[in-house]
Amino acid sequence: MSPLLSIENITKGFSSAGRQITALDNVSLTIAAGETLGLVGASGSGKSTLSRILLRLLSCDAGSIRFEGEDWLSLKSAALRPKRARMQMVFQDPLAAFNPLASVGSVLDNPLRIHGVVPKDRRAGEIAMLLERVGLTADYNGRPVRALSGGQRQRVGIARAIATRPSLLVLDEAVSALDVTVRGRILELLVDLQKQQGIACLFISHDLAVVRAVSHRIAVMDGGRIVETGPAAAVVAAPQSAAARALVAAVPRLVTDPP
Ligand SMILES: Nc1ncnc2c1ncn2[C@@H]1O[C@H](COP(=O)(O)OP(=O)(O)OP(=O)(O)O)[C@@H](O)[C@H]1O
Ligand SMILES: [Mg+2]
Repeated sequence: MSPLLSIENITKGFSSAGRQITALDNVSLTIAAGETLGLVGASGSGKSTLSRILLRLLSCDAGSIRFEGEDWLSLKSAALRPKRARMQMVFQDPLAAFNPLASVGSVLDNPLRIHGVVPKDRRAGEIAMLLERVGLTADYNGRPVRALSGGQRQRVGIARAIATRPSLLVLDEAVSALDVTVRGRILELLVDLQKQQGIACLFISHDLAVVRAVSHRIAVMDGGRIVETGPAAAVVAAPQSAAARALVAAVPRLVTDPP
């Protein structure tokens, strides 16, 4: 079976202040349906650039992407619009772009309306179901987004992303701003969603421990290249590349380790 997503030889350069940077150098990756691929790498290694190209927020210089059997990068706007529902993004602060006075309900109603996910008379029921799915009660519906904690905001961000029934979620540093307890709960939620609904994830973080907690496989980026890919447990237990070894060394030791 062909993979859900197949990224082939993506290359992207930037020029800034007269300097030429190769942000992505022949990057290739695949993600199977229902699979979580962790993408980890040091700051500046090119992770967000890849996610922006994938979401069609940025163009690339060379390479191709197949998603759900389509030549993703050649889809023009009219054909792309309905397909965008199938690949959704969760950012570090997914509600930052919203009016802080907007209610949680209106934030969730938007994608349902724009993509015509359910008929108008069923949207309220769908919002209640989405809230429940991310572990929030129905009374969050009327709350303004500015009154939410970081963890609650991220739950609403995830509910918004799954509202259009995507086959792939792209999460870029989605839990990096959360404190450790809240982060653990959001990671549990993501694993649950992935198991129950079979949504595939590209889970991007600079933190290997976080990536390890949710990923089936891990790809390691360094200087715009994928330097290692393997089953999550193997990459953590026996890293092959210098970049992966450095990320493993950066994971804090358990407090039970002797000083
Ligand atoms: N719009 C831009 N103009 C110029 N250079 C850019 C631009 N966007 C990214 N870069 C450069 O491309 C490289 C990769 O950046 P990118 O944001 O993809 O890294 P990252 O792996 O997401 O890092 P982080 O972990 O800090 O989020 C960096 O050297 C960055 O400075
Ligand atoms: Mg980034």
